[in-house]
Amino acid sequence: MPWSWQAVVKLRVVGMTEQFEFDPAAKEGVYKAIFERRDMRHFRNDPIDEQLIERLLHAAHSAPSVGLMQPWRIVRVLRPDLRGLLHQVVERERIKTAEAMGERSDEFMQLKVQGILDCGEVWVVTLMEQRERHVFGRRTLPDMDLASASCAIQNIWLAARAEGLGMGWVSIFDPQDVRDVLSIPEGAEPIGILCLGHVDEFYDQPMLIKEGWASRGKLTDYVMCDTWEPDKAARAQQQWDDQL
Ligand SMILES: Cc1cc2nc3c(=O)[nH]c(=O)nc-3n(C[C@H](O)[C@H](O)[C@H](O)COP(=O)(O)O)c2cc1C
Repeated sequence: MPWSWQAVVKLRVVGMTEQFEFDPAAKEGVYKAIFERRDMRHFRNDPIDEQLIERLLHAAHSAPSVGLMQPWRIVRVLRPDLRGLLHQVVERERIKTAEAMGERSDEFMQLKVQGILDCGEVWVVTLMEQRERHVFGRRTLPDMDLASASCAIQNIWLAARAEGLGMGWVSIFDPQDVRDVLSIPEGAEPIGILCLGHVDEFYDQPMLIKEGWASRGKLTDYVMCDTWEPDKAARAQQQWDDQL
């Protein structure tokens, strides 16, 4: 809100929290995007409006990042031949993943894990080169670059959902294969192939839950107070073990 006398008056009459709180509809919109966001693998292939794409890119670029590092680099893949090659890259790794999976490999092969050939747009999100030079917030936790780029991806995901657009994050690939397809230099690290596009419907719950692959743990087992709570940790661990 621009600075105005109305804002000054409002500041005097309401508490600070109310002053900063979104109005109810806006607040509801934020939670709706969070709860109704889904990882999508089924798309229609009609094109995405360029202005909408601009908004999503701005959402990505407004993400928090460690020491304002902004480690994300986003490659829009416009050429159909490159998209086809990325699809092959994922297919290759999907088979290797299944082989490494043991008991559940056949079940895994039944899952749809990407919609690269069907979606409106494919973006490859990549960590920048020379990340080792950025020490702020990464001296002991170097993965904070990945965490920052993940925040950018989550911003795209939520903004896309609010726009009625689906997104799927595909990470089943060998980064070197993706580098080769898009001429990405050795020091940069591809972390996601994002499939973006219009959808006929959003899954009402995570597809992996609908397919019986995994289940969601109980929130109370994931939140601890003051100290590590081994009982909770064990239950959350068990929940995770059961679906491996
Ligand atoms: C870092 C990351 C990588 C992911 N990679 C893949 C992937 O390669 N293929 C896939 O089908 N889903 C992938 N997903 C989506 C997850 O399977 C999905 O988020 C999870 O099942 C929960 O479903 P939801 O996102 O609809 O809530 C990825 C998600 C994240 C956060």
